[in-house]
Amino acid sequence: MELKYEATEDETFYRAYLGDALNMDEVISDNQIDLIVTSPPYNIGKEYEEVMALNDYLEFMRQWMLKAEEKLAEDGSFWLNIGFRKESDGRQYVPWEYDLYPIIRDEMEISLVQQVIWHYKAGVNCRHRLSPRKETWLYCVSDLDNYTFNLDDVRVPAKYPNQKKNGELKVNPKGKNPGDVWDIPKVTSGKGRASPERTDHPAQYPENVIERIIKASSDPGDVILDPFLGSGTAAKVARDLGRSCIGIELDENYMDEIINPRVFEEYEPPKGEDDEQMSLDELS
Ligand SMILES: C[S@@+](CC[C@H](N)C(=O)[O-])C[C@H]1O[C@@H](n2cnc3c(N)ncnc32)[C@H](O)[C@@H]1O
Repeated sequence: MELKYEATEDETFYRAYLGDALNMDEVISDNQIDLIVTSPPYNIGKEYEEVMALNDYLEFMRQWMLKAEEKLAEDGSFWLNIGFRKESDGRQYVPWEYDLYPIIRDEMEISLVQQVIWHYKAGVNCRHRLSPRKETWLYCVSDLDNYTFNLDDVRVPAKYPNQKKNGELKVNPKGKNPGDVWDIPKVTSGKGRASPERTDHPAQYPENVIERIIKASSDPGDVILDPFLGSGTAAKVARDLGRSCIGIELDENYMDEIINPRVFEEYEPPKGEDDEQMSLDELS
């Protein structure tokens, strides 16, 4: 495993390793990680993966997940993003969680808190079935009695914020719980319609999704791991939010052409209210 890029800020660090997630032992200590957030290859023939036999793929998933759980702190959280696989020459769409949950339940020492549905809205249209419009997050923790969950940091505006019952506001003035179905558009591509955050990676997850997970399941200064870093989304958002991040990516091209500029060389912190005020002052 090679440490390709690294940055530090006052209390936080960012490290991107070129290598195989299966070798994470080389660079991460046991119990070092507060939050794992990741989207592994789905074994569906994307440009970065060779399709494996089902059992070989499940063995790969088992191996990295068992290693990852050792890295997790006693009060850590593990968010796993998965989709579905096609069976019977594409006539069956089988959600990956049906195969992966038994590994979590029977072989790992983490517990499922719940499933979260990411409803990404647009996608391919099917003619012989309902068009897929969602992916799943399996939200797990090391200890069901002791884990970080910052609900106030992820509340969303209520539809009727002024509704009252017996003269009292019915809704929390800080907003409502975002629920377990998240309507967040995919990162789009295409001329004239590409999302501003779009990179050349073929499976980039949206910053909004990761922001919600990082805010809910970690505190500033915590250490986050994405063992399948891809375009670097988890590290970019961790950096925006003042959390440390360790990322692992097998593909050197993604590492040099996408992760390096996005998270290291050309990284710019998000504009805060003070910066906005300053640029308005500068304009006047
Ligand atoms: C689904 S993509 C992750 C995308 C990422 N969430 C993002 O927002 O860009 C999976 C990534 O895992 C990488 N990968 C595949 N096998 C790997 C392995 N054994 N170890 C580390 N990375 C691997 C692929 O190159 C790909 O970039």
